[in-house]
Parts: sequence; C-alpha cells; structure tokens
Amino acid sequence: MNVKKVGLIGCGAIGTVLAEAIERKLVECRELVVFDVDPSKAQKLKAALDFPVMIVESIDELLAQKPKVIVEAASQQAVKDYIAKIVSSGTELIVMSTGALLGLDINFSRVHFSSGAIGGLDAISSAALAGVNEVILTSRKNPKALGVYNQQERVIYEGYAEEAAKKFPREMNVAATLALTVKPAKVKVRVVSDPAVKRNTHEIEVKWRFGEMFLRFANDPHPDNPHTSALAAWSAIKLLQKLLQT
Ligand SMILES: NC(=O)c1ccc[n+]([C@@H]2O[C@H](COP(=O)([O-])OP(=O)(O)OC[C@H]3O[C@@H](n4cnc5c(N)ncnc54)[C@H](O)[C@@H]3O)[C@@H](O)[C@H]2O)c1
Repeated sequence: MNVKKVGLIGCGAIGTVLAEAIERKLVECRELVVFDVDPSKAQKLKAALDFPVMIVESIDELLAQKPKVIVEAASQQAVKDYIAKIVSSGTELIVMSTGALLGLDINFSRVHFSSGAIGGLDAISSAALAGVNEVILTSRKNPKALGVYNQQERVIYEGYAEEAAKKFPREMNVAATLALTVKPAKVKVRVVSDPAVKRNTHEIEVKWRFGEMFLRFANDPHPDNPHTSALAAWSAIKLLQKLLQT
C-alpha cells in the first residue's frame, strides 16, 4: 500500500480546496487519484493543479490504485454506494457527507469523519461519555445557502438530527456529525433562514452531567458552493494530515 497516495471522491468545493492544499504540500502526498461522476469536474481539477493527478472512472479503479486514505467529498449517496467496498479493501476513509453514516451499521475502525463545519467534538464527546441531558444545534444561514426564498428571518425546520440530515442532505451534515458524536443521545435541530446573515452560523448548546457548553461557529461560505462552509474543507485537510502520518 502506497503511504503517499490519496484518493479523492468528488472534485467540487471541498475536493478542490483539499487538492490545492496537497499541491501546496500542506499534506504529505505523492500522488492524488480522483474520481467524480462528472468527468468534467475531475478534468477541471487536474488542469488547475501543477501536481500529479490521476483521473479514474469508478470506485473499483480508485481502489486498484491502493491509496492509503480516500476522502469522500461527494454526497450521502456516494457514501452509501461505496463504503462497503472501501472498508473491505482496508483503506482508511474520511467521510464528509456524514448524514449517510447515521443509517449505516458499519465497522467504524477505518471510517473517520472530520469535525466539518463545526468543532469542539473532543469536549462534546467527553461530556457524552459522562451523560448529556440536552444537545441543541441552531444553524442560521442566508436563504441562498439553504436554497429557499424569504425576506424575513424564518425558522424553516425544527426536529432531530437524523431527519434534518435527510431533509437537508447538503446542509445538515453538521447535525449528523453531532449526532454521531453524542449517540445514543439525541440532537435537537433548528434551521433558521435569515437574509441578514452572510455567514453560515452554527450554535451548539450542550447541557451535560457536570456543566454546560455553548459553541458558536460563523463560517464564510465557499465561493463556488454556498451550501458548504470553508471550514469543512480545512477540517478534512487537517484529518488527512493526521492519517497520513500514522
Ligand atoms: N461534514 C460537514 O460539516 C460538511 C460540510 C460541508 C459539506 N459537507 C458535505 O460534503 C460533500 C461535498 O461537499 P462539496 O461542497 O464539495 O460539494 P460539491 O457539490 O461542490 O461537490 C461534490 C462533487 O462530488 C461529485 N459527486 C456527487 N456524487 C458522486 C458520486 N456518487 N460519485 C463520485 N462523485 C460524485 C459531484 O459531481 C461534485 O463534483 C457534500 O455531501 C456536502 O453536503 C459536509
């Protein structure tokens, strides 16, 4: 297995930031192998980089290249379709579309998820071990980032993380990440569409056995994909750095 080879599924907003970080040598990687269902996305990424990039056309071709780590930056459906093959090949997998993991009964030892567009998961998972009483996520985004239209601030969703990740597969992976962190405890979710905000804002309140936490993240949306926060891509880069060092 080549320790310096990285596989990437999805050459969109996150995949591009990740590939650029590899090109800038922020991550120790000799070759990047990319797969996108839209071949033009993979071609565009390769053309923009001054770094060895191999384009493949299927998950089987990607696995045949034996990357040490594969980063999924595609969609929840992609995770559902490819995870079994990737896990059984022994490859480490970083999942960005975390909503897909909620419904899967899978051995997690080689499946990793980054903190994505939020953080503080170390403290939250520690508290979950002791016992959490309540976890509430309030996500506030500009209507454009939610794909809705409203002129006044409006709560467009209230419910639980599992349902939120299904209803908003592109925007509520954050809720899924929190749910995976505190499970079996539940995460209450509120999604607010607010024309007054430009940043994607996530507020997390945790009431646990020995205290309370309040975390707030205000992230610039990615210029090419307003659904995605720039922080999400950087969290994948950080995790990739760590996995390649082991
Ligand atoms: N965990 C988090 O906090 C977090 C934050 C932001 C985004 N995300 C998720 O990460 C994923 C990628 O985000 P993005 O902003 O880069 O999306 P994007 O739409 O900009 O790019 C996704 C790319 O993946 C490709 N793709 C889609 N399905 C595929 C498949 N089955 N096989 C191969 N390629 C496929 C698309 O053609 C596209 O080029 C999304 O699911 C998004 O919801 C997670």
